[in-house]
This record gives sequence, structure tokens and C-alpha cells, in this order.
Amino acid sequence: MAEVTTSVAALRWRDGLELLDQRLLPARESWLPVATAGAAARAIQALVVRGAPAIGLTAAYALASEARADPELTHLRRAARRLASSRPTGADLARAVQHILRVIEEAPQEQRFERALAAARALHEADAAACLAMGEHGVALFHGGSVSLLTHCNAGALATGGIGSALGIVRALHARGRLARLYACEARPVLQGARLTAWEAVRDGIPCTLLADGAAASLLARGSVQGVVVGADRIAADGSVANKVGTYALALAAARHAVPMVVAAPTTTFDLTCPTGDSIPIEQRGGEEVRRVRRARVAPEEVDVYNPAFDVTPPDLVTAIVSERGVARPVNAVTVRGIAP
Ligand code: MRU
Repeated sequence: MAEVTTSVAALRWRDGLELLDQRLLPARESWLPVATAGAAARAIQALVVRGAPAIGLTAAYALASEARADPELTHLRRAARRLASSRPTGADLARAVQHILRVIEEAPQEQRFERALAAARALHEADAAACLAMGEHGVALFHGGSVSLLTHCNAGALATGGIGSALGIVRALHARGRLARLYACEARPVLQGARLTAWEAVRDGIPCTLLADGAAASLLARGSVQGVVVGADRIAADGSVANKVGTYALALAAARHAVPMVVAAPTTTFDLTCPTGDSIPIEQRGGEEVRRVRRARVAPEEVDVYNPAFDVTPPDLVTAIVSERGVARPVNAVTVRGIAP
């Protein structure tokens, strides 16, 4: 079997944090240096970097950078709060910030930067390893020969510190010669599927077909895919899954056509303090994302917009949740606890 790998990365440390500016993809590959926690928080809000695990890693490195500039604790606690509140839905962000802040608080002042950077690097490596493990666990869910899979948004290398969560499964199948085709929903309004997933696939030689979000139900009805694979931003204790808006509609259509709905997420995305999906905060974003497609206006300026960035899929519509610790199937509070941190 070929090695399961990718040529894509969302972030890197080169004596400072650099982010691949995902707003510019697929037209341009440009790395943006991010020197401060404030700059990182603004980059997270503006979707320079996005995807729950990649956001968490960005915040971890940004807090380390801040400790180099000023290792004083009051300052670093303020920077940590700013980072943790930059986007509300993904669970990885607050977890990563809390972890690095704890490392900083336990270190002598002159070692805060080195220790925080080492901890951020360790989180990065752990996420890359989790992606590989999810790929292996996910492959086992699809028996027999080649399969075609449908995905939504981008849960790939651009969203994680490794080969991706949902796209980790896709890449693991592809490396075994068992992926017939990846179908990618475009994911309006921000088009993470069209701009990012399709780009990753083309770049890594993964056969990919792009479709408008509204075409997904008919693709499922035709029997063209053997599974839907998506990532998650936060998984509640009962197995409810917050992910990119449109995931719930895909889950409903998949259930109607008896297609397995598989969610892949590292344990950093689980939040057992949320008992159900109702307690997951859902980010509402500005109306201009919907009134425009990129720069082009496609709706009147005056029209009201409903623009939740995420939706919640209830556990009874999820066939399996895959983490690096294994597979929850069926999805319920007991099985989720078995693969949670
Ligand atoms: O708004 P985004 O682009 O940050 O939303 C990303 C998603 O919904 C992903 O599916 C999720 O973060 C999982 S990424 C491994």
C-alpha cells in the first residue's frame, strides 16, 4: 500500500507562525506571517485559517509567539482569552488555548516561550497522528471493493495538522486503491468544498467531482455513493454533531436512501460538557457572505440573511463517529464516551 500522505498544509512554524491564506485559494498560494495573538484571532475570524483542529493549532502557536514577545502572565492570560473567543463553535480552540496557558503558567518565566512552543508542536504532531489513525479506523467501515464517498465543506489537510479527518479516510482508501471517486459539495456560502476540498483533491491526485449543495440528495438517490464522510466542529456527549451548515440536510437525505453517514473527528473536538446538541453554540456570520459569491453581489443589499456557519445533526442520523481512539457505532452516549478524551 502507498503511504497515506498529503502535499497540503494549513500552517507551519518558521521561527514564527505562518498560515496558508485560505481566503485566496484556489487562485493563489500565499503564506501569511502571524506575529501576535491579536493577529491570529483576526485571521481565525476572517477564515484565513479554518477547520476546528487547524484553528486550535493556530491558537496554540500564537500563544507561544506571544510568550516570546512578553512572558508576563497577566498579558498572556488576556491573549489566551482573546484567542479562545475568536470563533465559538469548534471545541478544539478553547481546549488548545487552555492547554498552552497551563504549560505557560507552570513554567518559569524565562522558559515560557520554549515550553509553550514545544507544547504547540506536540499538539500538532498529535493531530497529525490522530488523522492517520482515523483514516485506518474509517477504512474498516467500508467493506469490499472500491467506494465513492460524498463529503461536505473541507475536513482535510487544510482543516487539520495532518491528512484530514474525513479526508483522512478518503486518503487512506485512495492509498489502498479503493477510492472510486470523491464527491464534494461546494458548501455555500464560503465555498470550502469548491475552493478547498476540490483543490486538495486535484493537488493530491484524488479523483473528485464537485457538485452544488442542492444536487447532493439526487446523487444519494441515484446510489452513486456508498457513504457520506464529514468532519465535526464539536461533538456533544449524546453524539450530536455540529459541523458546517448543510451537514444536517445531507444526513437526512443519506438516511432516506440508506447511505451510511460517517463523522470523523479527533478527540480534541469532543465536548462532553455539552450534554446534547442544544448546548453547542452556533456561530452566526455576516449577511454579506450570502449576498455575495466572493466579491460579486448576487442579492439585494437590503435583503435580510440567515447565515449560521454550522448546524447540528442528531445522533440517530449518524451511522458512526470515528476518532483516533476507535469507532462509535451505533452513536449514543455510551459509545461516544468510549472514544472520547
Ligand atoms: O467554517 P469552517 O470552514 O471553519 O468550518 C469547518 C467545518 O465545518 C469542518 O467540517 C470541521 O471544522 C471539521 S475540520 C476537520
